[in-house]
Amino acid sequence: MTVDPLIDRARDALAAAHVPYSEYRVGAALRTADGSVFVGCNIENANYSNSLHAEEVAVAEAVKTGHTEFERLAVTSAARDGLTPCGMCRQTLAEFASEDLEIVCDLGDDTVTYTLGDLLPKTISESTLNAASEQREAVDR
Ligand code: THU
Ligand code: ZN
Repeated sequence: MTVDPLIDRARDALAAAHVPYSEYRVGAALRTADGSVFVGCNIENANYSNSLHAEEVAVAEAVKTGHTEFERLAVTSAARDGLTPCGMCRQTLAEFASEDLEIVCDLGDDTVTYTLGDLLPKTISESTLNAASEQREAVDR
């Protein structure tokens, strides 16, 4: 039975994962404001640190074609263990998405949904940098 159509898309993406080192497949599916869906899988590298996370790949697929308004993200691992995006991916998502972005995680025959704000409260953003810049300008005046 389908748990959630976006989870199905994330599960489909697992097949392309390149995971010779961890053998832990991750799939992500990102729905943008116009209803388009962009998928990603993890792509590991022999130097480990160059490995790409599934969510990063999905974000890159969306942004490179001008889709920068994110509505919902589904994430799965082949283990269907309710994986949530790691801290780095949360910050990558926050560059484009508000704290209301829904993140649905795959528990096999069930899902658990968080918001980006639940997973990454008080993040640094463009407005943080703008506020600091205004503060510096006020001191200079
Ligand atoms: N991984 C992701 O693709 N997304 C995450 O946010 C968590 C971790 C991948 C990286 C690595 O290929 C494997 O999962 C084990 O950490
Ligand atoms: Zn990550």
